[in-house]
Amino acid sequence: DDGDLARVRGWVQAARSIAVLTGAGVSAESGVPTFRDAQTGYWAQFRAEDMATDAGFRAHPQRVWDWYTHRRALLAHVQPNAAHRALAGFAQLHPGRLTLITQNVDGLHQAAGSPDVLALHGDLCAVRWLDTPQPCCREDRVSDERPPRCKVCGNALRPAVVWFGESLPPQVWSQAEAAVRRCDLMLVVGTAGAVHPAAGLAHTARAAGARVVIVNPQPSALDALAHCLLRGTAASVLPGVLGEATG
Ligand code: APR
Repeated sequence: DDGDLARVRGWVQAARSIAVLTGAGVSAESGVPTFRDAQTGYWAQFRAEDMATDAGFRAHPQRVWDWYTHRRALLAHVQPNAAHRALAGFAQLHPGRLTLITQNVDGLHQAAGSPDVLALHGDLCAVRWLDTPQPCCREDRVSDERPPRCKVCGNALRPAVVWFGESLPPQVWSQAEAAVRRCDLMLVVGTAGAVHPAAGLAHTARAAGARVVIVNPQPSALDALAHCLLRGTAASVLPGVLGEATG
């Protein structure tokens, strides 16, 4: 309600350091499907173990590669929404005060102009070697076989995203942990909080003494951690919470 919005706006203005964790919900209003929303989420249509694991890719490389190609093609038609823009605008106006950590691989925070996005789960539009998490030498020379090989270095390739059971990029993870440990306000936006270790960042922030605010139209697994629950969509809530804080 408006009282909560005013309270959170005050917390944003008073905060020395803000950490933000976003999930698929922040891109929902751009038209990007989420994973666990009933009916429309990807995991309502596909089995995550088939489409987002190393074993699933090795068992059916064509099916998984085609799904990622489909998701990349979707991105050609979507734009950042008001939530992405509010986060980018705040970060540009208050350099160094807001650290953006995302579980998303859609690149929309970067497209909106957010600097230094900590992308915990990688990048939908990049490829990496299949057998070691090395970036490939050339991303535009992918062979037609499946799994594809790089036409330059010959290595088998896969999407450069973090699949279930895989470790997060160590450098990105340690920066995210440091950010939530030092923040005095944490905004958790558009995530079900169902996937670890990403969801654990909210616990770490709370344990480090930060105020925790959740922005989500639905209940999430992190709600018990929140000092304030803003029951609304990211695009309708964030501009008010971050926008006027440009003073
Ligand atoms: N604004 C804010 N939140 C929204 C909106 C919206 N417009 N629409 C949906 N949501 C919320 C849903 O209520 C849900 O809590 O966004 C959340 C989306 O949850 P998931 O689909 O589980 O997405 P996410 O939490 O990002 O998943 C985490 O799981 O599948 C893996 O690696 C994948 O990064 C992903 C991770």
